[in-house]
Amino acid sequence: MAKKRAIASDDEYDYNDSDESAYEPATAAVKAKTKARASKPRAAAKKQRRVASSAEDNAIGTLDVESKVHSALHPASTHIISDPAPLREALLNWYSLVHETRGMPWRKAYDPSLGAEEKAQRAYEVWISEVMLQQTQVATVIPYYNKWMAKFPTIRDLAGSDIDTVNGLWKGLGYYSRAARLLSGAKKAVEQFDGRLPDNAKDMEAKIPGIGRYSAGAICSIAYGQCVPVLDGNVHRLLSRVLALHAPPKAKQTLDVLWAAAAAMVAGTDRPGDLNQALIELGATVCKVRDPACGACPLQRWCRAYQGQPGQREPAPSRAEAKTEGVPDIEELCTLCAPVPPPGLVTAYPMKADKKKAREELDVVNVVEWSDPAHDARWFLLVRRPEGGAWRSASIAGIRASADIPLRPRVRAGLLAGLHEFPTVADVPADLSPAGARTMAQRALAELLVEPPAPSSAAGRGDGLRIAKVAPAGDVLHIFSHIRKTYRVQWVLLEGGDAPPALITTAARPVAPKRKISGRDKQRDDAIGEEAASVETGARKTPTGPVSAAWTLLGEVSDANVGTGVLKVWKRACALWE
Ligand code: ADE
Repeated sequence: MAKKRAIASDDEYDYNDSDESAYEPATAAVKAKTKARASKPRAAAKKQRRVASSAEDNAIGTLDVESKVHSALHPASTHIISDPAPLREALLNWYSLVHETRGMPWRKAYDPSLGAEEKAQRAYEVWISEVMLQQTQVATVIPYYNKWMAKFPTIRDLAGSDIDTVNGLWKGLGYYSRAARLLSGAKKAVEQFDGRLPDNAKDMEAKIPGIGRYSAGAICSIAYGQCVPVLDGNVHRLLSRVLALHAPPKAKQTLDVLWAAAAAMVAGTDRPGDLNQALIELGATVCKVRDPACGACPLQRWCRAYQGQPGQREPAPSRAEAKTEGVPDIEELCTLCAPVPPPGLVTAYPMKADKKKAREELDVVNVVEWSDPAHDARWFLLVRRPEGGAWRSASIAGIRASADIPLRPRVRAGLLAGLHEFPTVADVPADLSPAGARTMAQRALAELLVEPPAPSSAAGRGDGLRIAKVAPAGDVLHIFSHIRKTYRVQWVLLEGGDAPPALITTAARPVAPKRKISGRDKQRDDAIGEEAASVETGARKTPTGPVSAAWTLLGEVSDANVGTGVLKVWKRACALWE
């Protein structure tokens, strides 16, 4: 999978934790409140300027200069950007020096003279880049972005495509749900908005699937010149430091404060796109997680975390602040920050999130082969995840839960949509016996084959389909952010019959013509198109769910639309015979 951005905490299972949603206030009420705060930062600041830092010293009496910023008791105004103008100027000056250094093809100067159609085209480009950049580093994204734009230069080209093509272009970037969401967003924009993404963040967020507050802010500020904020992981960290906010990082109130600060930064500027990109860029390249380059930071003199470090002096209050120093009001004290001050280091901000202990899960992955000795060909069974809607049961590969296999509904509908994987029985008991694992193979086959092989008692008899072998191939560990997933891989070899066993499938993909294959694992006949690499046979039973499966030649498996975990599994299985 592509290199993740250091801040990422997303995975294919739990995309609620992605940058996108992590910074979304959960309810309309919260949104309204945040908006209200963002629209009156000056009023809030004025109110809170009554709480002066000297008065705070008086209140607790024993603070020295160095601990002042980090004191457990401090005014709520510490976390408000009351006068963003000088920060903004310093930030934009810095950005004008660095904005081209990383060679991002989607970064273009904002041109207010563009017409609506051209701006919408820019919005499309920025949208693609922003979605690719979620959880993925800039350098990794650039070639993917270029390939994408060559294939889908406009939103209409994307909307006219299909999940297989989109997943194919996404292959290697990981987190495939992003690609599926782009496709459905493009379809909606074409069907309902004449192929233009809405030109304001409110509508964009409300009406385009997969676009949340962060993306809407980024796209609308960069492409449409709207003064709307962004808060991704980088900006969260940067603003937490500037404001010395040491509060639970994902808490609603923390996010409200940070969104309000981001809004204060962008409000009223004539370069909202640059301002937001400057914040993102500064967070990504200077205000880094572990080794921030404070010496190179244009915001250093306003950064409360930096000022609070041992050896740093607190910045002198501005004249306006000095004038309004007064007596602290208990109601104006910050109630968000942790009562225990963090160590005086910039990297103490933001507060570390409570790490949930990763859940352990065991899946049995059946690498099912049907071997065709007459043509010396080896076919492998791949199951395709549905494009939308839930699996009919909870398991990854759609294999129905049963009383003795207590599957839990963990996997979200639409995740890894359209990708292929080996037939898998998900989340089986940790103490699964080898015999139990073999039963899993039978269950998987019973769900997928029109005429499943009889249990092993039939092995060796006649020409009928039989399970010739179930060989353990070992375990593969795949870590998601909250799940330590063990794939227990087994090779399930089927023999008998003169064609790959017919599959129960709802797929509407073309059935390849029957063809002669010479030589073991022979690649397909040149005359046969790419689709023919997967052979779907039969649809004789009424389908019971949105599962489609296909027999795939050995040489084609790793080229199919498969995710990283499946590739690891495949490698492990191949080690059995290579
Ligand atoms: N990461 C996310 N959005 C970005 C942008 N617009 N520029 C650089 N890095 C980013």
